[in-house]
Amino acid sequence: MAEQQKTATKTKYDISIIRPEMRADDFKMRGEGFAPERLRAIKKGLHALHTLELMAQTIYKFQITRQKNEVNRQLVAAMCNEMGHYQDFQVKLYEFGFKPSILRAAFWMVGFVFGFGSRVLGPKWIFKTGIWVESKAVHHYAELLETIEWDDETRQVIEKDQADEDGHIERWKKLLESA
Ligand SMILES: [Fe+2]
Ligand SMILES: [Fe+2]
Repeated sequence: MAEQQKTATKTKYDISIIRPEMRADDFKMRGEGFAPERLRAIKKGLHALHTLELMAQTIYKFQITRQKNEVNRQLVAAMCNEMGHYQDFQVKLYEFGFKPSILRAAFWMVGFVFGFGSRVLGPKWIFKTGIWVESKAVHHYAELLETIEWDDETRQVIEKDQADEDGHIERWKKLLESA
């Protein structure tokens, strides 16, 4: 199932769009009339996604060096992509009437350790860390898509972001081959 989902989202979304457009009318309050257990699951899922995206953007942020090269260019694009994902889930949290989890500070720390640690170890470790973390993310996303009854629009956002993570894996794999 996870593999099927991966392929479906891969073909459905344009991952060359790093930051999809959001218009004034795209924002709405959500969850009206949802059963309490459905809302609980959505809240838990959004907290997981929001905190993971904080970790992801922090990893990339601390992997970037001062050199003006292709690796840094790609890392900046990935960081921007993750900042967008973080925004996506923060918006969804508030649209549902939830608040971000305070525990996400711990994920910033983990992101810093992975990001800075791999930068110190060199490019190969930057790519390896990216591939490892993003693979975990893609599976986690698949699980959340499968087990939670999302509204259609939130589901589309999660699928697009999952497709982006898949794109990151491809990019780092290519760079790792030539490193
Ligand atoms: Fe992401
Ligand atoms: Fe990613």
